[in-house]
Order: sequence, then C-alpha cells, then structure tokens
Amino acid sequence: MSNILRRGRLEAAQDEEILRYTSSMEADRWIFNADILVDLAHTVMLKEQGIIKEEDCSKILSGLLKIREEGMEKLDFSYEDIHISLESRLIDMVGEDVGGRMHSGRSRNDEVATCIRLTLREELLGLLEEIFALRETLVTLAEKHTQTLMPGFTHLQHAQPTTLAHHLCAHESALGRDFDRVQDAFSRVNLCPLGAAAFASTGFNLNRKRTQELLGFEGLLENSMDAVSSRDFLIECASVFSNLMINLSRMAEELVIWSSSEFGFIELDDMYASTSSIMPQKKNPDAAELMRGKTGVAVGALMSLLTICKGLPLSYNRDLQEATPNIWRSAETVRASVRVMEGMVRTMKVHTDVLSSQSVTGFTTATELADTLVRETGIPFRTAHQIVGMLAKEREKPTMERIDSAAEVVLGESLSSRGLTEKMVKEALNPVSNINRRKIAGGPAPEEMKHYISKRQAEFELN
Ligand code: ARG
Repeated sequence: MSNILRRGRLEAAQDEEILRYTSSMEADRWIFNADILVDLAHTVMLKEQGIIKEEDCSKILSGLLKIREEGMEKLDFSYEDIHISLESRLIDMVGEDVGGRMHSGRSRNDEVATCIRLTLREELLGLLEEIFALRETLVTLAEKHTQTLMPGFTHLQHAQPTTLAHHLCAHESALGRDFDRVQDAFSRVNLCPLGAAAFASTGFNLNRKRTQELLGFEGLLENSMDAVSSRDFLIECASVFSNLMINLSRMAEELVIWSSSEFGFIELDDMYASTSSIMPQKKNPDAAELMRGKTGVAVGALMSLLTICKGLPLSYNRDLQEATPNIWRSAETVRASVRVMEGMVRTMKVHTDVLSSQSVTGFTTATELADTLVRETGIPFRTAHQIVGMLAKEREKPTMERIDSAAEVVLGESLSSRGLTEKMVKEALNPVSNINRRKIAGGPAPEEMKHYISKRQAEFELN
C-alpha cells in the first residue's frame, strides 16, 4: 500500500537517506508494546463515547492484538515512525473504512508522549527492584563485617580506622537516596497526556479520564499543550539516572583500587574479570572499569536531553524525537550496571586480614590519641592536635615519653603530670577501641552499625 501519510498534502516519496535521517523506527522498538496498549485504550474509549461503532471497535482491537502477536519485525520500516507504520498495518488488515477510524481525535504528538511515559514507567519499576536488591546485598554483607576493621580514607590517604560494614553501608545510604529519587520521578512520569491530540485537544467528545485509567496512570497531564510538548520528565529521569550512575561509578572505582596489589582488600570473582592477551598473570577488574566508563553514557544522555530541549518553542517540535533514545540508552546502561554491581559485591572475596592490618597503618589512630589527651588532661583540642602532629612527623611509635617531650615543648609541662597514663595511650592507639568509642548515631561502632543494619532490614521487609 502507498504511504498513508503521503497521498494528500505531500506526494514525493522520501529517498532512503532522508528517510533514515528522519525516521524513529529503530528507536521505536522500545515503545512497540506501549503503542499497542495506547491504541487499544483509545479505541475502547472511542467506542464507549459513541465515536466509533462497536463492530469497528472489535475489528480494530483484534487487529491490534494480532499485530502485537506478529511483533515489531512484521511492520513496514519504511515509515517514519511506529505509530503510522502500525496504523498502516492495521488498515491493511481490517480495511481503511474500519482501521482508518482509530486515529480519530488523536495525534502522534499525544500518542508518542503517552508511549514514552508508559515504557519509562516500566523501566523505573524495574530499576527500583534492582536498586533494592543491591541495597539488600550490601546490607547482608555489612552484617557479616561489623567487626572487620579497615582503614577509612580522606584524600585517599589513610585517615581513621573504620569497619567494612560502615563503608558498605555508606554506599547503601547513597543508594537509598537514589531509590527515593526514582520513586519521586515516577510520580511525575505516571501522568497521562493522551487526549491532548496535536496540542489543542480535540472537538471529539473524548473521555481522557477513561484512557488514563485504562492505561493505569495516576492522573492526567492536564493542559493539552503542556502534555505534548514537555519532556522535563525525561530530563528529570536522566538526571536521576546520572546521579545513580555516579554513585555506582564511585563504588566501581573503589573495587578497582581495592583489588590492586597495593591494596589487596578484595578479589573480584573471575566472572567480572578479564585477563591480558599478552601478560598471562593478569586479572583485570574489567566489569568495574566499564561501569566507571559507562557513567559517561548516562551523563552524556542527560547533556543531550538538556541541549535538545533548550530553546524549543511550544508545542511539539520534531526535535523531541531526538530526545527519546537518550533515555532508553541511559535506562538500559544504568539498570545493567546496578545488576552487575550487585553480583560483583555479592561474589567478591574480602581479605579481612589485609583490611584489619591496614587499619592502623599511617597512624590512623592519631585523632583518637589527640582526643584522649583532651579528655584526660583537659588541654584544648588544638594544642593536642599540635602535640600529636609533632609525633606523627617523627614517624615513630607514639610512646608515653615522646608524648611527654612534645608536650614539654608545646606546653612547658609533661602530660603525665596532668594525669595521662601509659594505659590511656595504649587504649587510644588500639583500633578496636577507636571503633567502639565511635558509637554516636551513624558511627562505625559495631553496636551502632547493628542498629543501622536492623533498621534497614526492617525497611526492606516492609517493601
Ligand atoms: N516519532 C515522533 C517522535 O518521537 C512521533 C511524533 C511525530 N509527530 C509529528 N508531528 N511528526 O516524536
């Protein structure tokens, strides 16, 4: 059949290159199922409103179900988009006198906006489950490591002792916010633009509420001009995805560092590693590196969306077609990354011996020593900071004598004369005591971490 859109105002068929340039058929694979659903809902509503006859409605519905069964591949890819290709296939099946009625009171502008929202809704729900699984895995692993000492870092320099549980739950907390952001974005995606038609709605007596309900949307995107022209929901989701991807990238970066021989904190499962084609000994953390790299896909998608939408006048502009594939690329990458990260964390081998021996290298207990001087002798923290800093500079074990002689220099008196004992110093230098002392809200003390973990687990069970 000749192109159903090029037999009125337009005549010349498009050549191959211009068709490829303007068509969205390839990217529209993402919205094939959604488009069928939108067609089904619109058709049912047209019949209920008395706009099309019952027998026409039945023929259209069974035609649509057949097209769904045949799959996207059976459609004619020489059309500029799925909407018109699908309609053309329907007309082939049931005749124009019936199939040609389906698009009454509708435009591809409200149609595509609805399809994107329907599909994105599924992606967001899938992503929520995946983030949830990753959070559960992190918390489950943390539960085993509330006593596993490790060095905490600032500036990638050894800073203070902490525990692996504390570190893992830090990532889990960030993912909790990503989870909330996805949920929040969902509420704005889950609104129905259908019935807006080209932009000015329609003189047909459509029941927008009914199609909204049939498609399971929470509400209407009311203003018909806004309904077809807004893509801020895509920008919002791409931003949420970027944030999540950046959190994953930071985790991936740590897995790369931690599995190096310099650190030796963990070993990734072979599944996530590759070897070198020349260096037979290599075990490279490729999946984690790729995750860092793929962050560029999510951030790039956000930048593309922002750039495409900037400066577009209302209402629909074809530029918007260029926006959509970015969200699919980003969603696909981000969802796969969450799943891969879950597997990587679940299967990695943790070298607790290395972690705990490293927990004190670099004088990580210096802060606790300074705090002890304050608590036990009453000197100001800044003075204690100076004294312990002098000891750190010497790069030798901070004994009672050294503390006293540094104190003599700074204060003109020893700290043993102010009540500091060997036992107190020893305690301050013990990483386990360091951890146990840090028991205020959010600290790494095992009792506090257990509290945090059980709060999370209770939350997970509710969901
Ligand atoms: N493929 C188009 C898109 O993604 C569908 C809407 C086309 N509308 C139009 N007026 N040409 O935006």
